[in-house]
Amino acid sequence: MKIFISGATGFVGGHLRRELRDRGHQLRLLVHRHASGLEREAEQVEGDVTRLESFEQAASGCDAVINLVGIIREFRSRDITFERLHVQATANMLAAAHKAGIRRYLQMSALGTRPDAISDYHKTKFRAEELVRSSGLDWTILRPSIIYGPKDSFINLLADHLRLAPVMPVMGDGRYRLQPIHADDVARCFALALEKPETVGQCYELCGNDRISYLELLDAIAAALGKSPPIKPHAPLGLMKLIIPLMQNLPQFPLTMDQLQMLLEENICDGGWKLTFGFEPQDLYQGIRSYLGMEQRKAP
Ligand SMILES: NC(=O)c1ccc[n+]([C@@H]2O[C@H](COP(=O)([O-])OP(=O)(O)OC[C@H]3O[C@@H](n4cnc5c(N)ncnc54)[C@H](OP(=O)(O)O)[C@@H]3O)[C@@H](O)[C@H]2O)c1
Repeated sequence: MKIFISGATGFVGGHLRRELRDRGHQLRLLVHRHASGLEREAEQVEGDVTRLESFEQAASGCDAVINLVGIIREFRSRDITFERLHVQATANMLAAAHKAGIRRYLQMSALGTRPDAISDYHKTKFRAEELVRSSGLDWTILRPSIIYGPKDSFINLLADHLRLAPVMPVMGDGRYRLQPIHADDVARCFALALEKPETVGQCYELCGNDRISYLELLDAIAAALGKSPPIKPHAPLGLMKLIIPLMQNLPQFPLTMDQLQMLLEENICDGGWKLTFGFEPQDLYQGIRSYLGMEQRKAP
C-alpha cells in the first residue's frame, strides 16, 4: 500500500514508519517542515494538519490514511490547542482522505477517551473519534495506554529525574495504576489493522501485560537505571490542585491539571486487543531496561 501519514516524525511515528516499511508499504508523510534524513525512506509533503488548504490534495494516489497527530499539552499563546490538534486536525485528515477517494482510515486516539471524559485531552480525542465514526470511511481507531520506547517522553522524564536525585515527589498516594505498551507493539497493531478487514469499524484499547502502580513504576525505572528504589514523598492532592493551575502555563513546569487528572483516573485495560491482533506485547521491565539500562548507556 501507499500510506499517507500525519505525525509520522514524532515518537510513535518513528516506530510506525519502520514497521510499515518492513512490511513493504510505501509512505508519504505530512510534515511541518522537510525532515532531513527521511528522504530515502518516504515521500514528504510540507503542510500543517490544522490548515486543510496546506495539504488538501496531498493524499492523492495513496491507498490509506493514518492520523497520528496529537498533543499532551496545550500552548495557547502559540495557538497549539487540543481543539485544533485533535478535532480540527482529524476533520482535515478525513477531508483529505475523501478528497483523494481513499476509503481506509486509521486514527490514533488514547486510552481513557470516552464521552464523559474529564480531561480536555480525552474530551477532544473523543470528539475526534466521533468525526471518524461518522465519516463513512472504512475506519479503525486505536486507543493505546501510555506508550514507552527509547524516545518516549514520560518514562524518560522520570528517568532523567531519578538519574539526578534519589527522591521523587508523588502526587497523592501514587497507587493509581498504569499499563504501558511498547511503541513497537502499537506500531504493529496499526500495520496489522491494515491487513485485517475485521478491524474496519472497530475501536481497540491497547495495553501491555504489566499492570503496575505509579509507585511501582518509579521503582522499576530506578532498577533499570541500576539504582535503589527512590524515596517517594507524597505531595497532598489538595495542595497540588491549588498550585498546578497557577504554574501550568509555564512551559518548564512539568505537569498540567489535565495530566494530573489522567494519572489519577488510571490507565488500564483488559488486553482484549490480543484476540484480534494475535501477539503478546513486550515485557515492560525488559523493555525499559533495554533503553534505560546500564548496558545500553555503555553501548557506542
Ligand atoms: N506517547 C504516548 O504515551 C501516547 C499514548 C496514547 C496516545 N498517544 C497519541 O499518539 C499520537 C502520537 O504521539 P507521540 O508521542 O508520537 O507525539 P509526538 O512525538 O509529539 O509527535 C507528534 C507528531 O505530530 C506532528 N504535528 C504536530 N503538530 C502538527 C501540525 N500542526 N501539522 C503537522 N504535524 C504536526 C509532529 O510534527 P512536528 O514535530 O514537526 O511538530 C510530530 O510528528 C498522538 O495522537 C498522541 O495523542 C500517545
